[in-house]
Amino acid sequence: LAALRHLQRQRSERRRAEELLRLGQVGRLNTLGELAAGVAHELNQPLTAVLASTQAAQRLLSDDPPEIATARGAMSQAAEQARRAADVVGRLRRVVERPDSAGQQQAVDLVDVVRRALYLLEPESQRCGITPRLEGPQRLHVQADPVALDQIVHNLILNALQAMEQVDASQRQLVLTLGTQGDTAELSVADRGPGIAPDVLPRLFEPFFSTREGGLGLGLSLCESLAQGMGGSITAANAPEGGAVFRLRLPPGKATT
Ligand SMILES: Nc1ncnc2c1ncn2[C@@H]1O[C@H](COP(=O)(O)OP(=O)(O)O)[C@@H](O)[C@H]1O
Ligand SMILES: [Mg+2]
Repeated sequence: LAALRHLQRQRSERRRAEELLRLGQVGRLNTLGELAAGVAHELNQPLTAVLASTQAAQRLLSDDPPEIATARGAMSQAAEQARRAADVVGRLRRVVERPDSAGQQQAVDLVDVVRRALYLLEPESQRCGITPRLEGPQRLHVQADPVALDQIVHNLILNALQAMEQVDASQRQLVLTLGTQGDTAELSVADRGPGIAPDVLPRLFEPFFSTREGGLGLGLSLCESLAQGMGGSITAANAPEGGAVFRLRLPPGKATT
């Protein structure tokens, strides 16, 4: 029996890993700390080489007589290294570039999306010591690009879990509520973390704004542009009972024939 359970657990771990791979971009975005460290490391090397080459060229040129040919060689090395640094930046830009969501929009069940995100983030929830609560209807169709929607929901939940690391374990709670407001479908992600400081609130969706150690501050800016690309929006507020609430609003799913 124990062996069977072990096998089942292995299988579910593998499924999770496969799903995370499928969400390649989400995975990458959520290891932005690692990405940033990698980029810093990759940039440091060519920049150091540029500095060394240009300093050498300067010395060679101030020699009497100046060693023009060698200086020229050093400068072309510097140019080569600068190009490498630019490539690193170009790669970073491609990683965070938002996929074009137009044209891939379809009716997607938001309940499914939330369940899947919660499943993928189970290890993080466990580490946080909480069981997220899901409230609302059993189905709620929105008009969306499924991959973009996965990314948004994943990021909002992960942010909530990360924010709650700052508070006492006994205080932590995560409630996801689905509903409709007029003609709009809404998902709210309410945590019982520290909430959002007044000076942070207006900057939340700015690219590269982060208060998190190792954070790159691209999650929410990406989520916002993805939501807007689908005709929706994201807002953030502090809940009267404490913690932060993020609301994702999307147009209702169009019935397909
Ligand atoms: N649930 C939350 N509670 C409190 N602050 C939050 C929450 N979600 C996001 N924030 C704030 O917004 C900032 C930007 O978030 P994000 O764009 O996801 O970047 P990152 O997670 O890399 O910091 C965070 O650094 C944090 O200050
Ligand atoms: Mg984040």
